Amino acid sequence: MSEPTREPYGSEDAARAAIIDAARRMNALGINSGRAGNVSMRWHRGGADGLLVTPSALAYEAMTVDDLVWLPVEAPAGEDAGAEQPLRCDGTRQPSSEWRLHRDLYASRGDAGAIVHAHAPFSTTLACLPRIHVEGIPAFHYMIAVAGGDDIRCAPYAMFGTAALSAAARTALEGRRACLLAQHGLVALSGTLEAALELAVEVELLARIYWQALQVGEPARLDAAAMASVHARFARYRPDPTG
Ligand code: 13P
Repeated sequence: MSEPTREPYGSEDAARAAIIDAARRMNALGINSGRAGNVSMRWHRGGADGLLVTPSALAYEAMTVDDLVWLPVEAPAGEDAGAEQPLRCDGTRQPSSEWRLHRDLYASRGDAGAIVHAHAPFSTTLACLPRIHVEGIPAFHYMIAVAGGDDIRCAPYAMFGTAALSAAARTALEGRRACLLAQHGLVALSGTLEAALELAVEVELLARIYWQALQVGEPARLDAAAMASVHARFARYRPDPTG
């Protein structure tokens, strides 16, 4: 996957404001509600690769740029693998309980410039079904390709905010830009905040259509050859889907 496209934020405060705006838009767009979910952006400080993330359990409407938290992508030496809080972070609030999921994805995915985690209603509905746990959302529609493969996987359930959930999400995202989290929600990553938000909306629409189709019958599936053609065409139609 390609390197992330850097967004032209002139200052860290501008980047922080864009993250809050994206978090509020998640709710306005109907892909999240209340304080659920979290949003982050890769943000270097000096020579250190890092990320800015929304704080934990704070209403997005009340959030200001000073509430966001910066932490380094590289785990500091001596940090407990099961720690609830990062050993090193910079902010007056606690970072999102999913800081590890965000940090681990930036560490392992060079193409990740921004990450959106939402409790999107149709994605979460599907993520409660055993058939989805097993096979994810299959290629019932060609737009499944926007998530990077021939399906959108569902990471097995793990407690929110844990290293186990982070590991499960990383596995489900291999070769993909989005996945479901069992009994939880969705994760979308992309090169930019705008693209990550757009992808989360697209995944939620696919989940809704798949859910609708399941109400009236067993949806047909596109085979591997058909999806290979879609991926090839996407390379021309949307040459940089991560940007
Ligand atoms: P935070 O408010 O701690 O980000 O938690 C919300 C959430 O969705 C946890 O998965």
